[in-house]
Amino acid sequence: MTQPSIAGIGAHVDREVTLRGWVYNSRGSRQVRFLILRDGTGMIQCVGGLADLGEERFAALAALTQESSVSVSGRVRTEARAPGGYELILSDFALLGASEDYPITPKEHGIEFLLPRRHLWLRSRKQHAVLTVRATVIAAIHEFLQREGFLHVDAPIFTPSAVEGTTTLFEVEYFGDKAYLSQSGQLYNEAAAAAFGKVYCFGPSFRAEKSKTRRHLTEFWQVEPEMAFADLEDTIVLAENLLEFVAARVLERHRGLLAGVLERDVAKLEAVTAPFPRVHYDEAVARLREAGRDFAWGGDLGAEDEAVLSEQFDRPLHLHHFPVEAKAFYMAPDPQDPRCSLSVDVLAPEGRGEIVGGGQRTDDLAFLEAQLEKHGLPREPYEWYLDLRRYGTFPHSGFGLGIERTVAWLTGRRHIRECIPFPRLMRSISP
Ligand code: 4AD
Ligand code: MG
Repeated sequence: MTQPSIAGIGAHVDREVTLRGWVYNSRGSRQVRFLILRDGTGMIQCVGGLADLGEERFAALAALTQESSVSVSGRVRTEARAPGGYELILSDFALLGASEDYPITPKEHGIEFLLPRRHLWLRSRKQHAVLTVRATVIAAIHEFLQREGFLHVDAPIFTPSAVEGTTTLFEVEYFGDKAYLSQSGQLYNEAAAAAFGKVYCFGPSFRAEKSKTRRHLTEFWQVEPEMAFADLEDTIVLAENLLEFVAARVLERHRGLLAGVLERDVAKLEAVTAPFPRVHYDEAVARLREAGRDFAWGGDLGAEDEAVLSEQFDRPLHLHHFPVEAKAFYMAPDPQDPRCSLSVDVLAPEGRGEIVGGGQRTDDLAFLEAQLEKHGLPREPYEWYLDLRRYGTFPHSGFGLGIERTVAWLTGRRHIRECIPFPRLMRSISP
């Protein structure tokens, strides 16, 4: 007897198989029970009849509770009315591990109830679907970047300095000294780009954000490509091609999950084709004012501003040339217009906000030194970074894409906490 997975059950029609998994749901009458079994790869309806099993086994089947682990044996049948199109006619089963009073029942639960039970919540249909899409997004990113000639070079997590400002740094004690958890691998990517040309790092980033918003985690995953001898334009084109590839791959693999389980409007994802519209910061300010927002030139956009702007387009948009003051110390100023930096944010559609941040880095040693001072950053921990401008400085650019925000947009989740297996939020670090 074979032990296939539920996802591969179609290859075993009319054969006797054994499956192991958990009881998702069970219902029935005095004559017949319908048990929905899940094994992580899918779900299948198992049908147990009183006539086939006998009184005692039938009663034991009826007594199986939600999330008990079981082994079931029987014949696979095609059944158009069953979820998934197949069912298993039970000949035997065994209880492996009982589950008493499983807390997450088919009724609706609030987030305050679900978050502390994340270790169990992962088993639920929607959460399973979101994290399946996440895995596909990550795999597609690796595939795309490697196909484009990028080398995967990891960046460290313990760092001596800030990348994205000092207000969101997580400080840790490091053998009597201070160290920080990485906000971004970018500075290390720049060193790697001088060694390998086109590189990317992919890993967790940490931000001590005191904000309790739908789009901030304290620990999130970021992919960061960096290219030598590349400018803002190259970064814009890379970002849109990557997003187009990822959206298409997710649609190709998970159209059913998206439209069915997640109730996502897939037409919105079909529209994600390059090139994306481009909006200069100056134009964004004008559009925001026209839309009745009281927005002053010079600052970063708030969540509301991003929503107003992105709702004017049917696909992601590039917002470029932010004022130098609104961006990090390493951004190159535009030689044509030194008020503005060679920066870009990609805003996802449907009011979902920034998913990509990046741009061209300054390759000018004197300007970088002045920027460190202006941003009140200590010189010593950045000496190695300044070396990159001392020994063969080169124009280079790149970006960071937040995985959870991207998955939230693709899967239509309101809050990014559902888009990472175990979210780390300001007020929650357990489980
Ligand atoms: O815009 P950010 O801060 O840019 C950087 O870190 C650059 N150093 C990246 C680079 O150029 N290599 O972050 C990049 C992206 C954001 O657009 C967003 O998608 C995500 O990372 N992000 C967060 N996601 C979840 N929670 C947070 N607190 C996030 N902060 C940024
Ligand atoms: Mg940003």
